[in-house]
Amino acid sequence: MDNQAIPIDERHIDERIHILEMRIKELENILVIKNNEYETLNEQYEQAIRDLKKAKMELERLKSTPLIVGNIKDVIDDYRVVVKSSTGPDFIVTYSGEIDKKNLKNGMRVSLNKQTLAVMELLPSSIDSIVAGAEVIDKPSTTYDDIGGLDAQLREVRESVEYPLLYPNVYKKVGVEPPKGVLIIGPPGTGKTMIAKAIAHHTNACFIRFVGSELVQKYIGEGARLVRELFELANEKAPSIIFLDELDSIGSKRTDVSTSGDREVQRTLMQLLAELDGFEPLGNVKIIGATNRPDILDDALLRPGRFDRIIEIPKPDLNGRKKIFKIHTKNMSLAKDVDLSILADKSENATGAEIKAIITEAGMFTIREERDTVTMKDFLNGLDKVMKHTTKSDRQKQMYMFS
Ligand SMILES: Nc1ncnc2c1ncn2[C@@H]1O[C@H](COP(=O)(O)OP(=O)(O)O)[C@@H](O)[C@H]1O
Ligand SMILES: [Mg+2]
Repeated sequence: MDNQAIPIDERHIDERIHILEMRIKELENILVIKNNEYETLNEQYEQAIRDLKKAKMELERLKSTPLIVGNIKDVIDDYRVVVKSSTGPDFIVTYSGEIDKKNLKNGMRVSLNKQTLAVMELLPSSIDSIVAGAEVIDKPSTTYDDIGGLDAQLREVRESVEYPLLYPNVYKKVGVEPPKGVLIIGPPGTGKTMIAKAIAHHTNACFIRFVGSELVQKYIGEGARLVRELFELANEKAPSIIFLDELDSIGSKRTDVSTSGDREVQRTLMQLLAELDGFEPLGNVKIIGATNRPDILDDALLRPGRFDRIIEIPKPDLNGRKKIFKIHTKNMSLAKDVDLSILADKSENATGAEIKAIITEAGMFTIREERDTVTMKDFLNGLDKVMKHTTKSDRQKQMYMFS
């Protein structure tokens, strides 16, 4: 058993090392695949659990007895409250152990057990019915760092919206009234929505986005009421920012109003004007409007005390385009030959949204060819595809938009 006696065949060991290395590589690849599979499965599993929970709750709700709607009139002590049912007199009742006492407030809508009238749950106020239409995001994730270029515009929006929300006293002391509302105008895809979201992110404000065209199409006959409730909601959730996207669809010039649809838009606009006049420039509700069609806006919207500050967002310049390329490629594995300056130079006239599309296309080429780094050629292909696609329709759009 003398080890030294065994002749060492170097070639043999080399071969063994090589085989082992190959095997390890192979196993690593399998591991990656299995890990991905595991993650997908795990997601599906968690989704199934959530669906099950939802289905069970649904069943529970269907089986339970109907509830009566009431309002809290007074909180007596740790066990009892005075409620007024929607039909009858006031009652002193208990409330469910699930309800936290500190959430009980006078005037709140609640559901009551039909037999005992015990308070079963707290109901959202009726204003929340419009939340289905408005996009209420307590804190959007978009930050200033996600926006390329537009430094001057961003500063202007911040001065008009963010600082007055954060430091109203400074404005009071100096005696300056900040604008109540700012209107962001510019071609589609230039970052108007992003700016509004980023502002809401950095102010910790509740961000309520309402898209004008939806308001007109989805809620026929209710536009005016919705606008009123939108502002009520904003007050309730203050500090908040109301973001009226596609403002032109409710705020276009009043021409001869002939159809009932036009009259409806009219009423909605009138309500919006009334709401704008009704709130305080230094309160903790701010309003941002955005539109691609400033040319057709009703002048009344632009009077002092309404959207009295207009901020124009241009298409990005060379530097802006380069920054946008940088932002949207920051999580990509780029090949060494990728030169973002050249791409910025070649994408003249592209909007931020188009640059993002170029990058996505480049990524798609890469994936299609089963490579794991994105090359300059991929980007150039993406650029070709996106810019060819847009130039024609763009030219048409621009004829009436930003002429
Ligand atoms: N300045 C920009 N910086 C970074 N990304 C941008 C910029 N402008 C547009 N984008 C990209 O385009 C998308 C659409 O932008 P958006 O803000 O919705 O445009 P708009 O509201 O002006 O039509 C954004 O989600 C973002 O990915
Ligand atoms: Mg937008």
